[in-house]
Amino acid sequence: MSKDFRIAPSILSANFARLGEEVDNVLAAGADIVHFDVMDNHYVPNLTIGPLVCEALRKHGVTAPIDVHLMVKPVDRIIPDFAKAGATYITFHPDASDHVDRTIALIRECGCKPGLVFNPATPLDVLEYTLDKLDMVLLMSVNPGFGGQKFIPYVLDKARKVRQMIDARGLDISLEIDGGVGTGNILEVAKAGVDTFVAGSAVFGAAKDSDPHRYDTVIGALRAELKNA
Ligand code: DX5
Ligand code: ZN
Repeated sequence: MSKDFRIAPSILSANFARLGEEVDNVLAAGADIVHFDVMDNHYVPNLTIGPLVCEALRKHGVTAPIDVHLMVKPVDRIIPDFAKAGATYITFHPDASDHVDRTIALIRECGCKPGLVFNPATPLDVLEYTLDKLDMVLLMSVNPGFGGQKFIPYVLDKARKVRQMIDARGLDISLEIDGGVGTGNILEVAKAGVDTFVAGSAVFGAAKDSDPHRYDTVIGALRAELKNA
């Protein structure tokens, strides 16, 4: 199991009126990656942010990896735009693309790191043929569309399965989980083989806007839990 754990706050739960500052603050508090949720009111029943916002964060001075989680259908049209906007990872749901292999190749050609995202009840079959082409596998531990939902425990079995596949092939791929992760369950999730943890409401909902150290405390608590993994 990888001990190189990464915390990826989901900006879905940030204060969008002060987004640049929010991202600066979570990174200063020790976050490793910026998780960027893109929703289209079609693949998922919500609408969020696009390439312009990603570009704005880069122009603001954010240098950390930006992990673009596409919850959109179709997928391909928007990929070059996100690459130009400074995305590091681009992950998509295989059920949102008619040609999964082509979409993975397109992300790579655009200079970004491709990843596949699986909804809680979506089987992992496509990994059989695609795993060695990926930099990330993202397991949804809630149904996509909203922050603040409850963690679905059966996804832990799925995580163990993917960890086994990655290790059996000796690949260097991040295994990320997204949804309902916090201090109460991050250790259990890590023990299932996950190395990258999205946390939206757990991080941004942690304390009042007026407290300048609001994110240090929660990210510190998440890392403290991981020390026991
Ligand atoms: C849900 C998004 C998540 C969400 C997680 O569709 O993909 O990234 O922000 O939020 P929490 O951590 O609050 O469950
Ligand atoms: Zn997400």
